[in-house]
Amino acid sequence: MSRAVQYSRHGGPEVLELVEVPEPHAGPGHVRVAVRSAGLNAFDYKVRSDPDYLPNHGLPSGQGNEFAGIVDEVGDDDTGVSVGDEVLGWTGFAAQADYVVVPSTHVAAKPATLDWPSAGGIGLVGNTARRATDAVAPGPDDTVLIGGVAGGVGLFSAQFAIRAGAIVIGTASEANHEFLRTLGVIPVTYGTGLVERVRLVAPQGITAVIDTAGQETVEAALALGVARERINTIVSFPGVKQYGVQTVGGGGKTATELTELAEQVASGELVMPIAASYPLTEVREAYRRLESRHLLGKVVLLLP
Ligand SMILES: NC(=O)c1ccc[n+]([C@@H]2O[C@H](COP(=O)([O-])OP(=O)(O)OC[C@H]3O[C@@H](n4cnc5c(N)ncnc54)[C@H](OP(=O)(O)O)[C@@H]3O)[C@@H](O)[C@H]2O)c1
Repeated sequence: MSRAVQYSRHGGPEVLELVEVPEPHAGPGHVRVAVRSAGLNAFDYKVRSDPDYLPNHGLPSGQGNEFAGIVDEVGDDDTGVSVGDEVLGWTGFAAQADYVVVPSTHVAAKPATLDWPSAGGIGLVGNTARRATDAVAPGPDDTVLIGGVAGGVGLFSAQFAIRAGAIVIGTASEANHEFLRTLGVIPVTYGTGLVERVRLVAPQGITAVIDTAGQETVEAALALGVARERINTIVSFPGVKQYGVQTVGGGGKTATELTELAEQVASGELVMPIAASYPLTEVREAYRRLESRHLLGKVVLLLP
């Protein structure tokens, strides 16, 4: 037997249970990974707490879509992965467990210098930030506004845009401003008066927007005269369609892309703070922290 996080009714972190399940094994084309870390994402608690968020999602459900660990079984000799390899990868509603079984194409080699918490927490936000940023194609002539820049997607999006030569303004709580400045982001607080605050720090105007926080950023973007095709929101909310803006989020994951991201984080080229880490047994506490919605970077579970 092995342990896995599960829930059998919708609700808050209190519905999460750490249960004993039969040990899974790797079939052909698959690998089994002994999990060392697993990232938490807003998607997890949105699906868990709201029965309408993913209507066909069956219960009981596992939880967690990204992990890092050590390969301890391979389904056949053609996987290109060996027992003992350190990897990071993705799955669906199954990462928060002692073992994960995935197609061998869903793992990437973990650089030796990448720590376990980071390895388990960068994949989903990295993929989403890449797609969300590419959707507005920032370049040296751009000043980009990012809503919710202190979150996982916001932090990577900011760094991608800055690396593309853009100036980045980002909305965040005051407590996160100092760190954001170290990345080269110009921080502004969100809330009433946002448009005026952005105008003050960007008199040249805003040319593109990535929103990871909600309607406020999209409305500010429109008030600032940003072209609708250069506004992208990854937060679905009623009415987004009425604005005619883009809604390009994560998807199209590849091991090649994950390898590149892992190497960039390992080398320090990209930064993703770990806001908090918890043992698997404290999964409820970990989600309470995540669901407080005010943190800098990622929350991860650590195993064994
Ligand atoms: N469509 C997709 O494919 C896709 C993929 C991934 C994520 N998402 C969604 O994108 C959102 C962000 O994801 P994430 O993983 O980056 O989340 P996260 O790491 O949990 O981000 C939380 C951040 O939100 C900030 N925040 C809270 N209230 C805010 C407000 N009113 N205005 C601006 N920022 C605010 C907080 O910053 P402060 O501490 O500074 O307040 C915190 O840093 C989530 O809703 C998630 O579900 C969508």
